[in-house]
This record gives sequence, structure tokens and C-alpha cells, in this order.
Amino acid sequence: VAALDFLDDELARLRRDGLWRDPDATPPDPTLLDLTSNDYLALAREPVSRETLLACSGIRAGAGASRLLDGTDRAHLALEAALAAWVRLPSALLFSTGYAANVGAMSALAGPGDLVVSDALNHASLIDGCRLSRATVRVTPHRDVDAVVRALDEPARRRFVVVEGLYSMDGDSPDLRALREVTQRAGAILVVDEAHSLGVFGPRGAGLCAEQGVVPDVFIGTLGKAVGAAGAFVAGRPELRAWLWNRARSFVFSTAPSPLLAAVTLDRVLTTQAADARRAHLLGLAGTLTARLRGAGLNVPADTRGPIVPVLLGDPERALAASASLRRAGLHVRAIRPPTVPEGTSRLRVSLHAGITAAQLDAAAAALGSLAP
Ligand SMILES: Cc1ncc(COP(=O)(O)O)c(C=O)c1O
Repeated sequence: VAALDFLDDELARLRRDGLWRDPDATPPDPTLLDLTSNDYLALAREPVSRETLLACSGIRAGAGASRLLDGTDRAHLALEAALAAWVRLPSALLFSTGYAANVGAMSALAGPGDLVVSDALNHASLIDGCRLSRATVRVTPHRDVDAVVRALDEPARRRFVVVEGLYSMDGDSPDLRALREVTQRAGAILVVDEAHSLGVFGPRGAGLCAEQGVVPDVFIGTLGKAVGAAGAFVAGRPELRAWLWNRARSFVFSTAPSPLLAAVTLDRVLTTQAADARRAHLLGLAGTLTARLRGAGLNVPADTRGPIVPVLLGDPERALAASASLRRAGLHVRAIRPPTVPEGTSRLRVSLHAGITAAQLDAAAAALGSLAP
């Protein structure tokens, strides 16, 4: 035990720097307005209906093994077929989480001698996947297409450009059409992680690539955010699925997701596809809140679009104090600090969901507006 004494110092350092996260956190107070989850369509909070549960009766709770070792259930295959059809790609492979999908896909696709051009704000799971791949990684400034073009000049066996559809801490999007053109011209592979845009944008919620008519080589979607369930998938041509099935270590060496959960998730996917009214309401709330906060003099980045509305405050202590004062006003808004975001850009991340009423939004806008200097 003494050998772990260094943790006392490390934890004290986190506290001193305002970076401490409390591992004893209890579930959030249900009387607070949730402005922090990724439950954009307010589906995660909805109990599974009796009909869905009945329809799922008889489906196994556990897969019992990896997909490669007979863990495959019909529920996995049905969900994968529905997901591929949703995002208009030929095939999809289900992973337990988005973290596992990104780590598995990037490390299976890229390798030594390859080049990965990665946006500076890419999610930790994409970064970890790139690191595991042992490819050369060039990080380009956020949403800078010219920098991507320059980075792609570097000779390599294979070249990848990796971006997100909607950035989770900044709420903005890259120019997907331009990136598709640039990668096509360079013979590079375009990887788009639509964790935060699937279900929110595009026809039937199919995402920003679908909205913009962009066909990525590798599409990643998560099922724990707008879809309101859990898991993730990688979609693309059938050879991509076959390769990941064989080589994505987070897929191969992991028990298959629960078949019961896969069946419930399929039900949620169908609900998400049909949720145009929720999407319209959500995007309306987002437009109103963004305009009001900017009007109040708060720093909401210019290109923010959609349900993630960041309010930049600078240092971690200020973000924490703002979050605490909002809590007293009945709002649950998370302070986001390094290492999740770069030093000096601590912020409130206001995350909207479709269950918020116009009156609740009005109250939230007033409370947030009062934080303006
Ligand atoms: C862009 C992005 N990709 C992947 C993930 C990981 O997904 P999951 O939570 O399903 O592991 C997240 C967040 O959790 C994310 O923000």
C-alpha cells in the first residue's frame, strides 16, 4: 500500500490546480434542469416501454463470448443492418462503446509508415487510437482545411484525415465537403466521428455527412448520446467491416455487447429516426440560447451550431464558481477544465436536450446571462 502513497501528492495537486473530480459523486439532483448530458433528444431518460420489453423477451442478456467466438446474436446483426441503412453506407460493425470503436478502428486501420492528420480538438478516444496505431500523427489546428492540405503533402504509405462531425466541447463542425474533396484529391482516407451529430442533424437524424451529401470512408456513430442507449458502430464498405472484425482489438478481444441491449437499442434507433419534431425543437432552443448569451456579452464561439453551447470563461476556478452559482439557480451546467479542453479555455458547456420547454430555456438564458462581466 505504501508504494501507492504518491497518489496522496498527485491528488493534492489536482485539488490545488482546480482539476479535482469527485469519484464519490452521487446521481445529479433531479430537481435541477439538466444542461450537461449528451441526451440530446431526451431519449436516454425515457424508461423502456412495456411493449419494447415484451418484444425483447426471450433475447439473451449476455452474449457469453466475443463476436468471433460465437458471441454473435441475431439482435446484433439486425441492429447493424439498421445502422448501416440509416447512415446510407453498405455495412456497420457494433462496438460496446464509442471509446472502443475509435481505439479499435484507428489502431486497426493505420500502422507504422502511415500518416494520420488529426484535428487538434479530436476526442481522447481518437487520439488514443492514433497513438496505438503507431502511425505518424500530425495535429492540425481546429477546422483548418488548408493545414490539412499541407499536412497531406508528407509522404506516407497510407494517409488518413480524422475529424468529428460536431465537436463535443466547442459545438462546431469542420467543412466536411471541403475535407472530402481534399482527401479524394490526395487519395487519403476520411474518417468522421459523428458521436455528437448522429440523431441531431441530417435526414431522419442520419448526421452531418448525410446532411451535406458527404460519404466518408469510415463513419463512426455512438448510440449513448442522441440515440439514448449505449454502444457505437463503425460503418463503411463491407471490407472495412471484415477488417475490423479481424483486426480491431477492442472488438476481437472483448465480449460482444448484450444482445438484449442491442434489441432495445434498435428500438431506440427507430425512435430517433422518427424524432423530427424533437430535432426541430432542440435546434430552435439552441438558436435562441446562443443568440441570447451572445447578446448578454458572453463569449460563445462564433461557429457554434446545435445543442452544445460553450461559454468560455478562461480559468478553471471561474468556470467552477459559475457552475456552482448556476446550481443555486436550479441549473446543472458542467464546468469543463483541462485536460478535457486546452489551458486557458475553461468553460461552461451548456448542453441542451429536447425535453426543455421554452419557459425553462428562458430561465436558463437569464441565469447564464447574469454571469456576463
Ligand atoms: C467525439 C466522441 N467520440 C467518441 C466518444 C466515446 O463514446 P462512448 O461514450 O460511447 O464511449 C465520445 C464521448 O464519449 C465523443 O465525444
